[in-house]
Amino acid sequence: MRLVLVGPPGAGKGTQAQFIASHLAVPGISTGDIFRANVTQKTPLGLEAKRYMDAGDLVPDEVTINMVRDRLAESDAVDGFLLDGFPRTVPQAVALDKLLVDLGFTLDLVLELVVDDDEVIRRLSGRRMCRSCGRIWHVEFEPTVKPGVCDNCQGELFQRDDDNPTTIANRLREYAEKTAPLVDFYGAQGKLVGIDATGPVEDITNRAIDALRSYG
Ligand code: AP5
Ligand code: ZN
Repeated sequence: MRLVLVGPPGAGKGTQAQFIASHLAVPGISTGDIFRANVTQKTPLGLEAKRYMDAGDLVPDEVTINMVRDRLAESDAVDGFLLDGFPRTVPQAVALDKLLVDLGFTLDLVLELVVDDDEVIRRLSGRRMCRSCGRIWHVEFEPTVKPGVCDNCQGELFQRDDDNPTTIANRLREYAEKTAPLVDFYGAQGKLVGIDATGPVEDITNRAIDALRSYG
């Protein structure tokens, strides 16, 4: 199955992608994670992307599309994938359609995680990530047994540079201006399914899996 997860920053895309991708046995591909890995490794791509990410702006389409094209050409994506955080603009969505035509595939479904701005701000302000395994936590909603230490791997938890109030506000503006139009774009293709992304993580995963079943 070939899926896209769309939703505002902090909607829970990364959290849900972990469970949905493993349920479908497809790779979860997060453009945010690929950019962050490049930032950590100080690659030229990472150095370029960091300027935009720190401000909460989107990385330019051309850079992002080329990166996704390379990733989708890898062998593990041949039988399906779950894209998290891509596409994020209409030109990226048009490029994805074209890319899939070239590869002989079509996109099956786009899951939109629906959640309001106040909840997003609460989620992003308390998010912590594990430096070793990448697991996503929250100081209040998904706390670890020992503060600052990952339950999975005992790795160190950190707060993302872009999870500060100024950058969060800009990410929300970018989402409303550039990403929200994808709802109409995929709605017109008959591929969009909106999911209430509030409540316990497990309930949201179940709603997503039910949606996949009814459309699959
Ligand atoms: P990216 O990493 O994609 O960030 P984002 O879209 O802002 O999304 P987040 O990762 O912040 O949130 P999420 O929805 O994954 O939520 P999470 O599961 O962590 O992108 C970062 C930057 O990279 C962008 O700003 C841009 O610069 C660049 N970029 C990436 N893709 C790009 C593209 N295609 N084009 C251009 N630029 C691009 O959950 C958040 C918190 O909430 C966690 O703490 C979690 O534990 C908690 N939580 C989750 N679910 C629940 C729940 N049900 N109840 C309570 N808490 C919950
Ligand atoms: Zn960990």
